[in-house]
Amino acid sequence: MNEVLNNIQARHSTRVYTDRQVSAENLNQILQAATYAPNGMHLETWHFTAIQNKEILCELNEAVKKAFAKSSEPRLQERGHSTTYCCYYHAPTLVIVSNEPTQWWASMDCACALENIFLAARSLGIDSCWINQIGQTCDDPDVRTLLNRLGVPANHKVYGCAALGYAPADTVVKPKKVKEGTVTIIR
Ligand SMILES: Cc1cc2nc3c(=O)[nH]c(=O)nc-3n(C[C@H](O)[C@H](O)[C@H](O)COP(=O)(O)O)c2cc1C
Repeated sequence: MNEVLNNIQARHSTRVYTDRQVSAENLNQILQAATYAPNGMHLETWHFTAIQNKEILCELNEAVKKAFAKSSEPRLQERGHSTTYCCYYHAPTLVIVSNEPTQWWASMDCACALENIFLAARSLGIDSCWINQIGQTCDDPDVRTLLNRLGVPANHKVYGCAALGYAPADTVVKPKKVKEGTVTIIR
């Protein structure tokens, strides 16, 4: 297989991170890869907000938890009241991917950009995971106040986030099992 195909198969979600920070150079390369993703009509209405500040990440997690605590869903309530829950798995870097919800493909633009982020990260030896919870809670007033402060455009919805960092050296990556029967080829 070529390098690109190998990289695609090597990408996997990481949910335990060390404190080792992603370098400025690598973060810039990853964010540049995000901006090269395909997007509807090439409108580029998206925005990428990268956070590498531990205190701000903790504050964001607390705001998400507070929003979850208000939910009627027991699973979310439980997360909201948990003292250990961290939606971004204590990754040292989080990239918030947001977009104007005016076009029906806004979420797809963000998904394409996120996959570029994950693949670029993998190619640089950086681990990653899609994080949904800020998207789920971005319309909560407390979460929104914080997002505004961080520079996420006020007219944007968060469609996903990328946790970035390094898994502990002893992490064992299980070979991925891929479901059979999900592909049809007609010739
Ligand atoms: C739209 C979407 C939302 C996801 N949300 C989360 C999430 O909030 N937290 C998480 O740990 N993983 C999340 N994931 C990661 C998936 O669980 C993961 O991609 C899947 O289990 C396959 O594993 P792999 O990424 O290691 O190949 C999400 C993935 C996608 C595409």
